[in-house]
Amino acid sequence: MENTNSAHSPTLQAKLAHSLGLLQRIAKEFHPAVFANSLGAEDMVLTDLISRHSIGIDIFSLDTGRLPAETYTLMQQAAETYPTKSIKVFFPRAELIEAYVNTQGINGFYHSVEARKACCHIRKLEPLARALAGMRAWVTGLRREQSTTRTDMSEEEWDASNGLQKFNPLLAWTEKEVWAYIKAYRVPYNALHDQHYPSIGCAPCTRAIAIGEDIRAGRWWWENPENKECGLHAKTSNLHPPK
Ligand code: ADX
Ligand code: SF4
Repeated sequence: MENTNSAHSPTLQAKLAHSLGLLQRIAKEFHPAVFANSLGAEDMVLTDLISRHSIGIDIFSLDTGRLPAETYTLMQQAAETYPTKSIKVFFPRAELIEAYVNTQGINGFYHSVEARKACCHIRKLEPLARALAGMRAWVTGLRREQSTTRTDMSEEEWDASNGLQKFNPLLAWTEKEVWAYIKAYRVPYNALHDQHYPSIGCAPCTRAIAIGEDIRAGRWWWENPENKECGLHAKTSNLHPPK
């Protein structure tokens, strides 16, 4: 039987070659392009690929101000491991955070889906718009099997909400393949992954999962699965922009 735990499995080697080829095409045909790096396991694979192969795609991260301490530790580690590919950090606007916290409360996002989405908007979407301004394409670490909301995504799509092309080079990778790459290439990763946190976002909105639970069960765990997107990845339907 094929060993899918190994970075040498033919399936993973083929996916790796395909993802690498796609990243190289993006850098060539969609300059300037950026990679949105949450420092999750998939994003560390992409960081390693972009850095190892000197691909001309810049990297940014959205620091919501509420990330777990372990994510900041990894951010520093990534800076030291990949000195030639610095991660540009975007912060939320201070006045928007102040207005939210002073009206909704410091943890107001637990009160309703609307309050949660408003917090995600201020801490993620508004900074994302600034990070994508002037870009022709952006790259994410989304994988199809991560969630029911991601099954019909494409590797390449027109992102109408942000007005640029969007690429998901690891869309077809399995969780096992992500970890096989991380282990084989000694890629630094978030210590929380070893504590039953397969998916990591902001600290107050992420918890560990139990054995057998869905890999995103620990994200906004108090909400219904269909609400579990922060708006970074709005549904898209077309491959190319409308004429
Ligand atoms: S989320 O929408 O639920 O928060 P998830 O954590 O699964 O997303 O990450 C999916 C992809 O969104 C990541 O691979 C990354 O490309 C992008 N992303 C999510 N959070 C951030 C962040 N804080 N900074 C930059 N990119 C992010
Ligand atoms: Fe706010 Fe939670 Fe969204 Fe982070 S994940 S931006 S803390 S609601």
